[in-house]
Amino acid sequence: MHPVIDVGDLDGALAQAADGLRRAKRVAALTGAGVSAESGLATFRGGGGLWEGRAVEVVATPEAFQRNPGLVWRFYNLRRAGLRSARPNAGHLALVDLEKRWGERFTLITQNVDGLHQAAGSGRVLELHGGLARVRCTGCKAVTQRAGEALPDLPSCDACGALLRPDVVWFHEMLPESVWRVACEAVEACDCFLVIGTSAVVYPAAGLIDMARALGACVIEVNLEPAAIAAGLIGLYGPSGQVLPRLIKRLDESAT
Ligand code: OAD
Repeated sequence: MHPVIDVGDLDGALAQAADGLRRAKRVAALTGAGVSAESGLATFRGGGGLWEGRAVEVVATPEAFQRNPGLVWRFYNLRRAGLRSARPNAGHLALVDLEKRWGERFTLITQNVDGLHQAAGSGRVLELHGGLARVRCTGCKAVTQRAGEALPDLPSCDACGALLRPDVVWFHEMLPESVWRVACEAVEACDCFLVIGTSAVVYPAAGLIDMARALGACVIEVNLEPAAIAAGLIGLYGPSGQVLPRLIKRLDESAT
């Protein structure tokens, strides 16, 4: 059990986190919208958040899509357009670095649909909530890559002509089963679990944190403020694009 760290004591927390990481045979990380904030993408909750002033049900449910697919597509097309100029930041790159160090013993799990982990160079990314680069046919179910391409507000499938939808998970939908299973296995097996830039309120993804904690992993939160805080958790509070590179540096220092 790790003592709860003073939120202001970043140096002390970094030392503890580096120690926890260094001891870990297996590492897993869960990321949320905050890791992409420094790439210029809005988060969902909080100031300027994507859902602010707009009911989630209006845009991110199968019911909304059935009622008004054009509205839902306009929302997602705006987000797709925003991705064209977004570049990975130092936080994404630090996670690539961790993957290089731990190899197959490192698992990156993300709630993000922006593809920035892959753009940074992360080789294996478990996308719990799907990906905006892909579309899925509501008719023949074919999934195709349509990254960087402007789509109309009611795009149709080249193969069967049915309406396409974004290949993302909406509220009231199940997570992709095999992705979720592999994510659970990685969290069960890890000794150190990083929770980065997520408000940790959306389940089942947030349940991975409870799982890691219950199984005794060293849980490290990187966020602007405590979100997943509880006893036994190390908190690194600051922008992930700054904190994660500092953690890597600290890891190197503690290795010498
Ligand atoms: P949220 O918007 O709920 O939370 C973002 C978190 O990132 C907050 O806790 C912020 O404090 C933190 N944050 C902001 N900027 C940061 C920075 N530079 N460095 C570190 N942390 C920062 O986003 P998620 O937790 O990802 O689901 O949201 C979870 C799910 O809710 C999304 O995947 C989406 C949404 O509804 C679906 O669409 C199914």
